[in-house]
Amino acid sequence: MNSSRIVVLGNIVNPKSDKKCEFIRNGALVLKAKTVKGEAQYQVEEIGKEKAILKKLKDEKLKDGFQLIDYKDCTIMPAFFDMHFHWVQDDVREMPKANLLDWLDNYTFPTEKKFQNKKFSKAKSQHFFERLTGVGTLGGACYSSIHEHALDDAMNAVTGDFVIGNVLMTMNSPKFLTQTKTEAINLVKKLAAKYKTRYALTPRFAIATDPETMLETSKIAKKQKCFMQSHLCETKNEIDFVTNMYKEKKGFEKIKSYTEIYKKVGMLGKRSIMGHGIHLQKDELEMLSITDTAIAHCPTSNAPIKEKGLGSGLFNFKLIEKNKIRWALGSDIGGGPVLSMFDVIRSFVDQNKKAGVTGATYKKALYRSTLAGAELLSLDKKKGNLDIGKEANFIVLPKIKDSEADNLEALMERYVNKGRKKRLSYDNLVEKVFYKGHLVFSKS
Ligand code: GUN
Ligand code: FE
Repeated sequence: MNSSRIVVLGNIVNPKSDKKCEFIRNGALVLKAKTVKGEAQYQVEEIGKEKAILKKLKDEKLKDGFQLIDYKDCTIMPAFFDMHFHWVQDDVREMPKANLLDWLDNYTFPTEKKFQNKKFSKAKSQHFFERLTGVGTLGGACYSSIHEHALDDAMNAVTGDFVIGNVLMTMNSPKFLTQTKTEAINLVKKLAAKYKTRYALTPRFAIATDPETMLETSKIAKKQKCFMQSHLCETKNEIDFVTNMYKEKKGFEKIKSYTEIYKKVGMLGKRSIMGHGIHLQKDELEMLSITDTAIAHCPTSNAPIKEKGLGSGLFNFKLIEKNKIRWALGSDIGGGPVLSMFDVIRSFVDQNKKAGVTGATYKKALYRSTLAGAELLSLDKKKGNLDIGKEANFIVLPKIKDSEADNLEALMERYVNKGRKKRLSYDNLVEKVFYKGHLVFSKS
C-alpha cells in the first residue's frame, strides 16, 4: 500500500467488550498513512457504512486520492492476540495426552531439548512464526525453551506485538533441560536488558523453577519493566505436587496455596500473566485480584483428552470476573492442538454451552481474543481493535453472504462451522493479514 489514504470495504467486526461489538454490514474502513518513530504505518481514520463514507469522500473531492480495496462480503476484524503459547511445542500439539505431568516428561521435554541445536531452532522459528502470522495472530505472550539462541530466533522471526521469554528450569527437570541458578539468573539479566518490555520473565512453573531464582529474576523483571508469566493451578496433581514440595522448603512451611508461592517470590503484579488458573481457591482469587495479576485461559488445552486437550478442567470465567481478575484467551500450543484462535474461540463457546454455562458468546470470545489481550499487554491505546486512531492490524475472512448470517453470533457460527469437523482447517481460514496497514500474509 502506497497511497496516503486507503479505503477497505467489507463487513466489519469490531469487538469492544464482553457485551459490545460493532458489526457493520457493507462497511468501510478508512486508513491514513502516518509516520511513527520513522516507520510508515496506517491507522484507522474512520469506520462506518460504505455508502456514507464513499459519499463523504466524493463530497470532499478526495476520492481519487484514495486506494480502494474491495473485500465486499468478506469479514474484516482485528488481528488476534494469543496470550499463552509455546512456540517450541509445535511438534507435540497432537501427541498422545494423558495428563499434564506425564505429557511434559514423555513428549514436551524431549521436544524442547531439540532446540539446543542452533540450526534446528532457526529453521523452526522461521516456519512457526510464518504460520502464526498466517492464522491472523499478531500479538500475545509466548514461551520459548531454556536456550538463549531460541529466544533470539523467536524475537527475530515474529511479526507483531509479542512478549517472549525463555523458560527457567532449575529443578525437577530432566538433566538435559536443567540450568543452574546462576545460569538462569544471568541469562535473565542479559535478556531483560536486551529486550526490555518485549521480554517476559518465564519461570516454567514453581515445580521446575526454584524460589531463589524466581525471587532474584522477578526483581530484575520489575526494574526493566518486563512482563512475567508462568503456569498456575492447571491440574490438581500439579497443585498437590507443588504445595507439598514447597512446604518442605525454608520460608514456605506455612503456605496455603500454589498462588502464595508466586506471591512470595514476587511473581504477581499488573504485568504478570498466569496460564490456566482453573483450580483456584478463594484466597488465591483474592491474591490475584489485589495484585492485578492476569490469567491466560486456554480452553483447547484444558479440554478433555478425547478432544486432544490435557483434560485439566473447565475454566470458571464467571468466578474470575466476579473477582475482578483480568483475563484473555490463549492457544497454549502444544497443550492445545491447533494454532488458530478460531479453534480456541470455538472451544470456549462449545465447552461452556455443553456444561450449561450461559454467557460464553462469540462476542465475548472475540473480545477476549483481541482487545482483552492488548489490554493485558497495555497496548490497547494503539492495538486490539479497529477504533479510530488505532493501527490497522486486521484480518480478512472468506465471503459469507448477507442472507446466510444477519447477526454477529450467526456470522461467527458460520465461520466456526467451516472447521468444526476438521479443526486443523481453521489454520487456513484467514485470507489476508495486515499489520500497521501493510499486507503481511495473503493466502493466494
Ligand atoms: N506447565 C509447565 N510446563 C507446561 C507446558 O509446557 N505446558 C502446559 N500446558 N503446562 C505446563
Ligand atoms: Fe502452557
